[in-house]
Amino acid sequence: MTIYSASLETPSEVAQLASLGYVQAPSAEDRRRIEAGRGLFTSVGCASCHAPEMALTNTRFEEPTLRGNGNYYDAALAKLDPNYDPKRPVAFDVLKDAKPPRAEARQGGGATIRLYGDLKRHAMGRLLADHADGESDGADGDSLKYDGKVVKIPADHFLTAELWGVGNTGPYLHDNRAGTLREAILFHGEDEPPAPSQPGRSEAQESRDAFKARPAVEQESILAFLLSLRSFAPER
Ligand code: HEC
Repeated sequence: MTIYSASLETPSEVAQLASLGYVQAPSAEDRRRIEAGRGLFTSVGCASCHAPEMALTNTRFEEPTLRGNGNYYDAALAKLDPNYDPKRPVAFDVLKDAKPPRAEARQGGGATIRLYGDLKRHAMGRLLADHADGESDGADGDSLKYDGKVVKIPADHFLTAELWGVGNTGPYLHDNRAGTLREAILFHGEDEPPAPSQPGRSEAQESRDAFKARPAVEQESILAFLLSLRSFAPER
């Protein structure tokens, strides 16, 4: 688990990768467009779900661990292996043990993770809904449970996709239906949506419409900004 976690890609941006010599530096004009797009991304409402950053308090991943009130401690494994000992975990600290590009240290401790997500589910409207029979089970076919109660996820509810690495490659959205970033954004709603608070309306409808209403040059800036979000597997 630790080695796998350590090998994951780090969210990064073109400018950072260029300063490390991994990619060609964007031109001054591209940099201007990216920065304009970063501002527009917030003003058209994308950042309300795709939160640009989150603070990671504890940057050390360890296994085995007693963290989480022992919830992550695998008692079954401990019985089988006398060396399985939380006092001697295999550990990996994203700030200390990673080579660049690595997460940014945060003033006062921890790291800033630029994930462009909120780790929450949102109603994304009838257009994006899965064509399942209404609600879905977990990936293993079992019902999801919380507090002992079965949780059903409506067919149009999706976890906000983290936009880190969205500039690496498409296709986009949960079923890869969008070949371009523009399509992915337009699928956040529809041209003739149900009225506000009616079923089937997307929570992102207003933001999607605000994007669509912007002049072409501003839409291009938002797309340039999205394309600048890369993820990169560092040498560890
Ligand atoms: C109400 C919350 C919400 C708002 C507002 C929102 N999004 Fe999203 N976004 C999502 C969710 C949820 C998904 C995942 C949908 C899916 O998996 O089909 C997503 C997916 C995406 C994707 C596809 C990512 C991928 O890897 O497949 C892009 C690109 C994107 N959003 C950009 C934007 C932009 C740009 C805006 C502003 C115009 C925006 N989003 C506004 C919730 C939101």
